[in-house]
Parts: sequence; structure tokens; C-alpha cells
Amino acid sequence: MSKWWRHGTIYQIYPRSFQDSDGDGIGDLRGIRRRIPYLAELGVNAIWLSPIFQSPMADFGYDISDYRAIDPIFGDIADFDRLLEEAHDAGLKLLLDFVPNHTSDQHAWFLESRSSRENPKRDWYIWCDPAPDGGPPNNWISNFGGPAWTLDEATGQYYYHAFLKQQPDLNWRNPELRRAMLDTLRFWLDKGVDGFRVDVIWHLIKDDKFRDNPPNPFYRPGQPDIDRNLQVHSADQEEVHEVIAEMRSVIDSYPERLLIGEIYLPVEKLMTYYGRSGEGVHLPFNFQLIQSPWQADALAKLIDDYEAALPEGGWPNWVLSNHDQPRIAARVGTAQARVATMLLLTLRGTPTLYYGDELAIGKVEIPPERIRDPWAANEPSAAFLRDSSRTPMQWDGSEHAGFSQSEPWLPLSGDWQQRNVDAAAADPDSMLAFTRKLLQLRQEEDILQEGSYSLLVSRGSVLAFERKLEGEIIGVVLNLSAEPTEVDLPPQLAAGTLLIAAQAADAPQELARTVTLAGDQGLVIRAAKEEIRS
Ligand code: NOJ
Ligand code: MG
Repeated sequence: MSKWWRHGTIYQIYPRSFQDSDGDGIGDLRGIRRRIPYLAELGVNAIWLSPIFQSPMADFGYDISDYRAIDPIFGDIADFDRLLEEAHDAGLKLLLDFVPNHTSDQHAWFLESRSSRENPKRDWYIWCDPAPDGGPPNNWISNFGGPAWTLDEATGQYYYHAFLKQQPDLNWRNPELRRAMLDTLRFWLDKGVDGFRVDVIWHLIKDDKFRDNPPNPFYRPGQPDIDRNLQVHSADQEEVHEVIAEMRSVIDSYPERLLIGEIYLPVEKLMTYYGRSGEGVHLPFNFQLIQSPWQADALAKLIDDYEAALPEGGWPNWVLSNHDQPRIAARVGTAQARVATMLLLTLRGTPTLYYGDELAIGKVEIPPERIRDPWAANEPSAAFLRDSSRTPMQWDGSEHAGFSQSEPWLPLSGDWQQRNVDAAAADPDSMLAFTRKLLQLRQEEDILQEGSYSLLVSRGSVLAFERKLEGEIIGVVLNLSAEPTEVDLPPQLAAGTLLIAAQAADAPQELARTVTLAGDQGLVIRAAKEEIRS
């Protein structure tokens, strides 16, 4: 077990919302630097920063106008260098967000590309003639609603954008563009960054004939516009795997670097992103815990299916929340969020923890006048409000929760005066303390890092499984509901030792063959050695 990312936990920071240092209400790199000791003490091993590059911020940094410059909102390159150095000094790896599918419409490349049909960079983006009726070239829809094509009046062609019209898609079939993009990876790798999370990696190559997508027979009004069609031709094309293999070989030309792909696809498809013989991404992000109903049988099945589908040598990974999805505590409640975190941190594979989930920040109401997500402006009814998952980190009980000297760009959670790092640090039973304990256990136990996974029980609201390594076992028993329930434990767990309980006050006094689990309870148990049968 050599690779750091196989036994480490990744922590996602949304830089606008972690820590402000200059009082503009927006988080920045100096702010993150200040919180490195917090992260080291939390016990995570790597931080992934959502984009910090120069950007007009139409999609808050996912619209990049210079891949090699830090946006002044976040600081400058010297701030970045110090952040990287201090993170490394604290034993933390640093991952950046690589956004290769599209740039900002203000990127110099796009300004050139749109300047004339003859411009040498014309082919760096995706330009097509209008349909015979003058409309868009095909029926592709933007992920943020409406047509995915915008007409450039001056040159008489449409350009393609899978997201906002301020985010034109790059043409990865063009070799020069490819080279330029791979060079930007080298630029950051040379600085010493430890890897990348790659934005919408399955989108990079589109059908070369630009065929219409077929209609989605299951579309129901109220779903996002994008779901009207099946994305058969606009994403997940066979040739994308070649592009990814090229990225991977750049990554592999540096020691111990990590490549993660953001991919929303069904499991069988997801697995192809490991590459035929491991030349894909190291970790295709696995979002199934976000998408599944929160029920024991559904989770048991998806974990088994995922484990079974993994290719030889493919390392698993798990995600509970991110900046595009409702937070875990918003989905299942703050008490059940402990159970979810216990699951995340005891499953086999690299976990990604989303900032603020260690406080169990729940649903944050965003008053209409404070909505910032550009998706919401396009699709007020269909869009899930991503702002609600991007609110500032809550550090203490002082004004603006210690996040900033002035009003933050998004509101704090309603309960921030109780739900903050300071308050949690003083409470040995807080979500924060609980998360730290789990992270520490994961760090110390080879069984949790490397052990095999097998399901023990999936009955009613109970999900139980064991991790096993060289004859040693750690069992995990979860109650996925708020109602108490009983569970029959196998002998090795019944005679085992309780290591961590999600609801410590209601933990069973003693383990036995039949145990009552309080609502929202979760137990991590070290099996008794003498009871383990191979
Ligand atoms: C996925 C990112 O996570 C999301 O925040 C962004 O809006 C889109 N990609 C477009 O870059
Ligand atoms: Mg700031």
C-alpha cells in the first residue's frame, strides 16, 4: 500500500466560503492558509480546492479566463506558493480543480477564436453552421437550461456550451489545444501540486457528426431542462478515454500524483473511466451515496454492486456531499448525518469529505435576493439551489461566524451561533469531535484502509458490514432511521469491543448477540479475535 491517496481522506474546500482574510466577504487563499492547522488537526490528508484561477466568476470560477493565474479575489501566485508550502509542511497534499471542458468567454483563446472564421484558434472551440432554418445546429441542451448553442452574429456560426453561454466548450479533437491544456497541467505539477480533480471529464469529447440526442422517454415536467434528452451524443464518447490516458501519462510522469475525474454516469459506465488497463483516472468520483434513497437495502445493494463492478486494480472512492449537491445533513437530518459520516469513513476506498459537513451544516435558507447561483437565474423552478451548499464555514460565535469582517457573500446557516467550530471544539460529543475520532481511527487502522468489505446485515433500517484484513475484523452497524431497532450481531462482533458510537449517550452498555440500536445510532466494533472464523 504505497499510494498516499489510497489510505488518505480528501477534504473539499469551496474557496469562496472557507475563510476570508481581507474583509470582502469572500474566502481567499490567505484565509485557507490560516486554517491549515485546523485541517491538520481534523485528520484529513489532502485538500482539494474548487477553482481559484482568474475568472469573471459567471459560474464562480468554473469559467476560467487564465489557467495559470490566481484570481485577485483569492490572492496572487505568491499566496498560492505559500499555501502549497504550508500545506506540505503540515503533511497535507494539495489538489487543484482542472476545468478542461470549457473556458470563460473572456479567455484570450476564445476572444481570438470568435474574432474570425479564419483565426488559427477558431478550431480550439466548437463552432457549427446554423441549421437550414437558421436555428441551432442540433437539439443539444445546456446543463443550466436552454439551448447549448449561442449564435455569434459577427461570424454567423454557433458555438457550443454545455453550461452557461459564458462557458464555451473547448475542442479536444484539436491537437494544439490538447497540447496547450496538458501544458497547464505541467505548469501546476512543476509547482508541486499533488494532483487534480477534473471537472466534467466525461464531457470532453462530443460526437463528431453532432447528431441530435434522442428524447428521454421518462422526462417529467419540473425536471431540469437538460433531462428532456438522453446525452447520447454530447458526452461519454469512446474517444474521451484516449484524452484521459494522455492526461494520465502527464500525471504519471511526476511521482505520486493523483488524478480524479468528476463523472455522473451509471456504475457500468463509471467503471470505464479507470481505463482498460488502469490508464484512466485513478479515482472516477463515485456519487452514488448522494443519489441513492437513504435506506439500508438500497445502500447495501449499491455498495455490493459497486464493489463487484470495480475493475482489477481499480481503487474505490466515496462522496457524500459537494458544492453541486444538497449537503448530507440537509438530506437526512443532523442526527442521521453522523451515521452517514460513519459510513463514508468506514467503507473501503478513498473518502471525500465536504467542508462544513464535519459540523453537520444542514439546509440553509437563501432569501431570493441573496441567490447567486447562475443556474437559478436560468431555471428558477428546476434548479436545485446550489447556493445552499456553498454557504460560509462557521468558525466561531463572533459576528459573521469568524468567516469574515463583513457580510459574507452568502448567508450563514440559521443555527450558526451554536453550530460552529469553536462551540464544537468545546463539546466532546459534537459532530466535529465525532468526525475527528473516525478520521483518526481510519488513519490508525490498516483494516479500514485496506481490509476487504463484506455485507453482514441489511434488514429493516439496519445496515451492517465488516472490514477484514489478515484475520482481523472491524464491524460497522448502522441504524438508518430515527427509530430504535434491534439487531442480531454475529459472534465475533457480539464478543467484540465498541470503538466509536454515533450517539455516544445511547450506546449499548455491553455488546451481545442481540443489541438495541437507538435511533440514528451507528457502532464501530473491533471483533473479538478468538471468535473470528476464517
Ligand atoms: C461541475 C462543477 O462541479 C459545477 O460546479 C460547474 O458549474 C460545472 N461543472 C461547470 O463547470
Ligand atoms: Mg476575501
